[in-house]
Amino acid sequence: MTIGSYKPRTFNLSNLKGISDATLEMHFKLYEGYVKETNNLSDRISAFIQDGNVDQDEMPAYSELTRRLGFEYNGMVLHEYYFDNLKTCGGSGDPNNTSTFLKAAETSFGSYDIWKADFVGIGKMRGVGWAICYENPANGRISNHWITLHETGNVAGFNPILVMDVWEHAYLLDYKPAERPKYIEAFFSNIDWTTVEGRAKGGNVRRAGA
Ligand SMILES: [Fe+2]
Repeated sequence: MTIGSYKPRTFNLSNLKGISDATLEMHFKLYEGYVKETNNLSDRISAFIQDGNVDQDEMPAYSELTRRLGFEYNGMVLHEYYFDNLKTCGGSGDPNNTSTFLKAAETSFGSYDIWKADFVGIGKMRGVGWAICYENPANGRISNHWITLHETGNVAGFNPILVMDVWEHAYLLDYKPAERPKYIEAFFSNIDWTTVEGRAKGGNVRRAGA
């Protein structure tokens, strides 16, 4: 891969239920900022290592840039997952009875409603970050996790299948800061379950060493 070569994607997404086009437009711009910074930091880090080592006097700057890369890189990727799991003109709300996601939720949580209570509960946690439902690709089980900012809490090797942005910028034009529960309701009414289910591997992926 060429260093710093990411291009911002365009998303064909509009007319959501309860999330305005103005919010989406602003959000796409923010996303583009993450792509730009990911490229910028990748280039700057690359410049440090061109001579084959990181000198002691370079270490503080190198370290800071590398930590920031984790923030920007995850910010870029998580926004792509987020926009991709929303559906223009809205979705069906909860998945239908034959849904493979529903079955995974039942296997992993006992019922879809319990899975949803957990996911929504995580979404309402105080703080800035994301609620993400991951699939363990080795056994098909799903679990929900809180991600602080963009980079703290992602589970190594797990597959993000449903990604919800709960930074205030995701809803501030449409709701008050304290109205995050209303935004979460709106998010659910726009989920593209086909995309979510398409991400799942169903437990058929052998993990290294397994
Ligand atoms: Fe965001």
